[in-house]
Amino acid sequence: MSESTSRRVSESKATLDLLQSKIADRSAKLAVIGLGYVGLPVACLFAEAGFDVLGVDLQAERVARINAGVSPIDGDEPGLAELLAAVSDSDRLRATTDYAELADREIILICVETPVDEWHVPRYVALKSALRSLGPVLKEGALVIVESTIAPGTMARVVKPLLEESSGQRANADFFLGHCPERVMPGKLLANLRGVSRVCGGETPETAAVMIALYQHIVQAELDAADCVTAELVKTAENAYRDVNIAFANEVALICEAVGGDVWRVRELVNKSPGRNMLLPGAGVGGHCIPKDPWLLSYQAREQGVPVRLIPAARAVNESMPLHMVELLEDALAEAGVALADARVLAMGYAYLENSDDMRHSPSAVVVARLQELGAEVVIHDPYVPGYQGDVVEMAQGCDAAVVMVAHGVYQELDWAALDVSVLVDGRHIATHLPAALMYRGVGQG
Ligand SMILES: NC(=O)c1ccc[n+]([C@@H]2O[C@H](COP(=O)([O-])OP(=O)(O)OC[C@H]3O[C@@H](n4cnc5c(N)ncnc54)[C@H](O)[C@@H]3O)[C@@H](O)[C@H]2O)c1
Repeated sequence: MSESTSRRVSESKATLDLLQSKIADRSAKLAVIGLGYVGLPVACLFAEAGFDVLGVDLQAERVARINAGVSPIDGDEPGLAELLAAVSDSDRLRATTDYAELADREIILICVETPVDEWHVPRYVALKSALRSLGPVLKEGALVIVESTIAPGTMARVVKPLLEESSGQRANADFFLGHCPERVMPGKLLANLRGVSRVCGGETPETAAVMIALYQHIVQAELDAADCVTAELVKTAENAYRDVNIAFANEVALICEAVGGDVWRVRELVNKSPGRNMLLPGAGVGGHCIPKDPWLLSYQAREQGVPVRLIPAARAVNESMPLHMVELLEDALAEAGVALADARVLAMGYAYLENSDDMRHSPSAVVVARLQELGAEVVIHDPYVPGYQGDVVEMAQGCDAAVVMVAHGVYQELDWAALDVSVLVDGRHIATHLPAALMYRGVGQG
């Protein structure tokens, strides 16, 4: 090792040691870029742990709400509203739209959205824009951690070169880089953040060690050190695993319908066989993560011509389920003597997940669009989504059919006999004690 290289190594070690000691006594100044479903609870938890946290978001209205101590997330999110109010009162969390304020921040967590486009290619508009805005104000010696889910290879191919270019600094010398993907789910944001294990992927093992020291302040579960590409692979693979397994359950459901079986009984008995864990079939898979993370996992391999077959097949099965709901409805309506084009249909649930207001990639949107295309009149009800709230029994009045898209708690407790419709299609297997005259169809029930 030359003298200048060895001096650089010992300087960067000293910088990381200093950062680690500031993490230990909570004097390190933190920032969180992107205050959505992931960034907001992360910012709140670090503030609760005693750090000074600055949140940055492009949406001025969201920033104003957060500064007023009011959560912009409307679903049932246990503890978040109260925690935000408390940390904002204590002045440990403040939000801004102005990147210039990041100049004194020593640790920056990036939590912006990372969607794919219609060709299943990552669209890193938000991530690149965040890195370009951060670079010019990046404090020397800072640690930048990407929490957003990204395709394997993105830290090396996109994040590192872009931040080096926009900051004029060198990674692993002037600043440090890591990837610590999130494992949260709406409805359990704080519980997941506190209780679920995390992978701390560092550009170097020393950076990974500092990341572990940081996350120990908010995570009461295992923190595994890794390199960045391993962290990228683990996150996208765990969500692709879920998608493929849901697709399997959906395919078995379609087979059950064809041969006159009941997928719910089949699933129950399959899962008595050792090592089997068949997941729940249903009306479709939505949200910001599961529908796109399999594409992120396979992106670079697909670009290189590696035959990726199972992941696209699973995606196709899961994408077909909302349209299958429409087919079930059309069939049941025909049996009840009503043409779909003349029907008034109640769509029950518009979020993608029970007890959440998150509508991203909602299977219900596909069902509603298809029904409208076929000429049906659609009434949408969702207890959490503004614009669709109301009394579900009242909203069903005058409807020929209801389609259950989401297993919201209020539906699980519903008196189904009070719903004045002639046809019910249940995509979540929650309707019980149905009137004998009702024409019923359920996913996977032949
Ligand atoms: N939502 C989940 O349950 C979940 C779970 C695990 C991982 N993730 C991953 O976490 C990341 C964030 O997801 P999310 O659900 O929190 O997204 P989100 O859309 O709720 O939040 C993203 C926020 O970033 C802000 N933003 C966008 N560009 C910005 C920029 N240049 N500067 C500052 N702010 C900017 C947006 O205004 C928005 O408020 C994604 O990569 C996602 O895949 C999400």
